[in-house]
Amino acid sequence: MRDRFGREIDYMRISVIDSCNLNCYYCNPQDNNKNCQAINILSVKKVLCIVRAATRIGITHFRLTGGEPLLHPQIDEMVSQIKKIPGVRSVSLTTNAVLLAQHAKQLKEAGIDSINVSLDTIDASEYEHITKKPLLHKVEHGIDAAIECGIRVKINVVLTPQTDVVALTRYASKKGTDIRFIEMMPVGEGHTNGVEPYEKVIGALLEVYGTFCHIDTENREEINSGYNNSDNGPAEYYSFHGLNIRVGLIQAIHGKFCDTCNRIRVTADGRLMPCLGSSVTMDLVPDSCEFTDDLEKDFVIVQALKAAIKAKPGCHNFNDNAVTYTKTTETKTVETK
Ligand code: GTP
Ligand code: 5AD
Repeated sequence: MRDRFGREIDYMRISVIDSCNLNCYYCNPQDNNKNCQAINILSVKKVLCIVRAATRIGITHFRLTGGEPLLHPQIDEMVSQIKKIPGVRSVSLTTNAVLLAQHAKQLKEAGIDSINVSLDTIDASEYEHITKKPLLHKVEHGIDAAIECGIRVKINVVLTPQTDVVALTRYASKKGTDIRFIEMMPVGEGHTNGVEPYEKVIGALLEVYGTFCHIDTENREEINSGYNNSDNGPAEYYSFHGLNIRVGLIQAIHGKFCDTCNRIRVTADGRLMPCLGSSVTMDLVPDSCEFTDDLEKDFVIVQALKAAIKAKPGCHNFNDNAVTYTKTTETKTVETK
């Protein structure tokens, strides 16, 4: 289904649980561990109900998020059941990977299409500083286990002044996973006093790799060969001479990615969120909703989805005071394919 701005909305992010086993400072600046208690959790039945209705309006890609989705007690079963729904083209997961080693095999068997791992540093003490947990070794095991199972992994790095771009890229390169650097967004409980310039990423990698080119995101056939995931997400990809992986930049703030936003979000308390940058949520289904072949119930959810898609704003409006950059679309291309 298209929204008011002509964007085809075919991608749903479902937050299946809102608790997390880490306590990252940008997510939870109070350091009070409150994220660790599950407040809301979506049942498998409810998720299946939502997914089935979503496929009726052309939503084909589904991403399960949290909180930390691997804390959901039936996450593997959920993936497996979603994959069986006609019309579902991909099911992916965004995780901190702390529990990934113990789920990788089951997720692969369930048919997971790809996993994005949030990892901001590969230095153990810095990891503990960011997340308040000494669990980097578990994350690394999780990533290795997923790769060994043949799952496509991408690494997400939230960009801060401390980010060691080269070390993280080298790590990703060793693992053969794409890596994306994300501008810090003032979302959830997070806040920011400024945004690290994406030029920092390009600059740091240019010093090591010499030349780069911007991958033509229109030419998806070429980029996606071998991938069965949508991949038309918020990242712009670059390749560097001598580097075996793609480097993505997600310019959430000063490049805004809203023109191509194709998403609708479901929160862990079972509501719809038309835009990442808004705190407004809309009714989806009553708590009593069961996964049945009840067309009438599907109709109610479809109507709610249509209303949320219609309500999608043209552009996110994060706390403007936090944005210290003006929009720059220029890229310093050294070599262009
Ligand atoms: P793929 O492109 O399918 O790999 O997924 P993704 O990159 O969208 O998912 P991921 O969970 O890895 O999120 C990475 C970044 O995407 C986040 O840090 C946000 O900057 C951005 N993002 C998350 N949710 C949304 C959304 O609802 N709309 C848009 N436009 N971007 C989002
Ligand atoms: N700004 C940018 N990215 C963030 N993420 C979490 N919080 C923020 C933030 N404040 C990233 C995580 C995860 C992805 C969904 O969003 O690293 O991988």
